[in-house]
Amino acid sequence: MQQKILVTGGAGYIGSHTCIALHEAGYGIVVYDNLTNSSREAINRVAQLIDAPIEFIEGDVRNAEQLREVFAAHQFFGVIHFAGLKAVGESVAKPLMYYNNNVSGTITLLEVMADYKVKNLVFSSSATVYGDPETLPIDESSPRSCTNPYGQSKLMVEHILEDLAVSDDDWNLVTLRYFNPVGAHISGQIGEDPNDTPNNLMPYISQVAVGKLEKLSIFGNDYPTVDGTGVRDYIHVVDLAAGHVAALQYLEQQADLATNDLATNDSVTNSSAINTSVGFLPINLGSGKGSSVLELVTAFSEVTAQSVPYQFAPRRAGDIASCYASADKAKALLNWQAQLSITDMCVDTWRWQSMNPNGYCPT
Ligand code: NAD
Ligand code: WQD
Repeated sequence: MQQKILVTGGAGYIGSHTCIALHEAGYGIVVYDNLTNSSREAINRVAQLIDAPIEFIEGDVRNAEQLREVFAAHQFFGVIHFAGLKAVGESVAKPLMYYNNNVSGTITLLEVMADYKVKNLVFSSSATVYGDPETLPIDESSPRSCTNPYGQSKLMVEHILEDLAVSDDDWNLVTLRYFNPVGAHISGQIGEDPNDTPNNLMPYISQVAVGKLEKLSIFGNDYPTVDGTGVRDYIHVVDLAAGHVAALQYLEQQADLATNDLATNDSVTNSSAINTSVGFLPINLGSGKGSSVLELVTAFSEVTAQSVPYQFAPRRAGDIASCYASADKAKALLNWQAQLSITDMCVDTWRWQSMNPNGYCPT
């Protein structure tokens, strides 16, 4: 049976790529997005790429009434919850907006899910919940702490999900902690389209390369790293999308186990039933490898043959020296691991950027 998935925030950068992967894996999708940081054109392009219409509903996850209508109209197996605001600097300036959108929005969604007994969730968390890590690579049991409202909003939702799992065994809450998503679909038709000047490194590099920005500022060259610049775990967005499919397949397997278990134990005794509840399950999605800012800039210039002028600038407030994942849990539980290289990330980013110098906006 084809399972139907509600994809909140499905018009966004990671959501649009995941819609393609979900369709290719045989899932039915309904996208729910308020387009606050995305455009309808992304959905049009996804529909072209998969050669099928997409059910798109413009709506806000804080709107319980509208969500109820969506849940009443569809039988969902689960929800992938991408919808959220993600700019760290903006969250410092507008904390209430971030807590309202990311925390209240998630609570509203969970309440509606509970009402409709849809209790399978894949939540977009972030490596930001690890703060400044004590040890590397970072595994899922590392301590969590955050220094900005964006990160706090993700951590708060994680705590809410943990409490929910304790309260009721029926919840299956896979919490994917993404490291640094970059890259674009191989077609060059969809990619990351920041509203203003990019905050993140890869879109900044590609906008310098395409001539929209003059020069990259590298924030800090005195970190205790290979070349003094910050080290991060870059993960191709197409790999990330595959990670969501793997998470859903895991949830389906667990649901099947639970059904089989019920059937076999029906006539015997329920005390021997295996607990197949997933509960709160945090999983890192990263490549497991760290790359420095200079290594990424050099790789991008080499593989695209574009020059990326840069200057060194002071450290950016709140930045850490190094951050990279242990991706062992994703491999063990989801049979997922990153396949695409830094070269792929640069080539695909450049294809998207050069084919769409203004993103989804035609002028
Ligand atoms: P994005 O901004 O491209 O996508 C988020 C989507 O959610 C957008 O289409 C936006 O319009 C929508 N949205 C926001 N608030 C909404 C609301 N209240 N109701 C309905 N729709 C709403 O961001 P992305 O990079 O695709 O990130 C997706 C998720 O992953 C976010 O939750 C983000 O915090 C998280 N995440 C992103 C990164 C990253 O670096 N891109 C890293 C870790 C975690
Ligand atoms: C990477 C490296 C910068 C821009 C952020 C969020 C995190 C997560 C992913 C959502 C750092 C350096 C950057 C520039 C630079 N998002 N840099 N010049 O900070 O690791 O993570 O995005 O959850 O929460 O904080 O990513 O791409 O901003 O920075 O030198 O113009 O590039 O200092 O070392 P970051 P980033």
